[in-house]
Amino acid sequence: MKRYFFTVLALSLLHTSTSAQKPNVKKVFKLAAEQTEYMLKQVDEAKHHSGNPALVSPRTTENGKLRLVASKDWTSGFFPGVLWFLYEYNHQQEWMKEAKKFSAPIEKEKLNGTTHDMGFKVYCSIGTGYRILKDAHYKEVILESAKKLATRFNPKTGVILSWDHSRDKWVNPVIIDNMMNLELLFEATKLGGDSTYYRIAVSHANTTMKNHFRPDYSSYHVIDYDPQTGVVLKKNTHQGYSHESAWSRGQGWALYGYTMCYRFTKDPVYLRQAENIAAFILNHPNMPKDLVPYWDFNAPNIPNEPRDVSAAAVIASALYELSEYSDQKKVYLEKANLMMNSMANKYTAPVGTNGGFILIGSTGSKPSNSEVDVPLSYADYYYMEALHRVNQLK
Ligand code: GLY
Repeated sequence: MKRYFFTVLALSLLHTSTSAQKPNVKKVFKLAAEQTEYMLKQVDEAKHHSGNPALVSPRTTENGKLRLVASKDWTSGFFPGVLWFLYEYNHQQEWMKEAKKFSAPIEKEKLNGTTHDMGFKVYCSIGTGYRILKDAHYKEVILESAKKLATRFNPKTGVILSWDHSRDKWVNPVIIDNMMNLELLFEATKLGGDSTYYRIAVSHANTTMKNHFRPDYSSYHVIDYDPQTGVVLKKNTHQGYSHESAWSRGQGWALYGYTMCYRFTKDPVYLRQAENIAAFILNHPNMPKDLVPYWDFNAPNIPNEPRDVSAAAVIASALYELSEYSDQKKVYLEKANLMMNSMANKYTAPVGTNGGFILIGSTGSKPSNSEVDVPLSYADYYYMEALHRVNQLK
């Protein structure tokens, strides 16, 4: 009996330590490199078949085939970013060559002021390249991109306008995803650019903190502002289950956004906000045991709902950074590790499948039945970033 008790205890301790063990960085990077080599061949083939030179980056698969997008698509910067992470990890010149090649077509987006997605496009590609190489030209691209993004800031609302589209529904829509663009603005000021970029980022973060969050620190997706007065007109969703639900990736953007704001400003208000958002996510009763969220925390048919691995990747990456600032370090590391191990063990595609994407099981937009339970380039990007962060942990 005694021996049985100790065996059970040992096994349960083993289980706890295994599930929250640091991810096997070497193994995952090796697999990611093999899979990305396969992806490069797939991309060549898909480009050749499309006959459209404007299609530059892989976004997902459709009917078993790669779907490529043009640089103006919000996801165009993620695959170049994955290539940069591979180069940073193994320092093989071939990866740098590919990273530069895939980043180059994104550069022209620095002049595209018709969307807020500048950060996703330019910062995840060229910004990641700059962090690694400190290339003077990349720095210029970051500064020019910040200048263009800043044109979307409205001092009357205090926020950066997200979308020019959907004017039938919203006058001045601002989505929680927009928090992710602030990194480009903060960094541009740090690199010697105008201090206005920093002030715009702070204004956007503060206004969003006031208007986008519910008392439980879950976030709305879309807030519509009166562009003349800054008055909030609507609190809605676009990709979530309902206006009052918590769209999972949106919660991830919020967590990542405020953690990053703390990195640049050291304002404790942002740290507290990030900790509160983390508590909402991690303690949610609908969070599955493997910590890979359903696409919306309030999706009506949980547990029979698609997961969103991209949300898990964003959240894991954010938690690693937050663990460096918060006194909840141990909890955040344990949860992030568990998420990473779930992705590695349950949501990783065998090499030579999945169009070359590393992860399966993401959901782009369930309400429009678009990209449900598929690979997505941004899931891979934040997964690679999270892995890089594991390597950087103090
Ligand atoms: N930024 C768009 C999305 O998260 O789907």
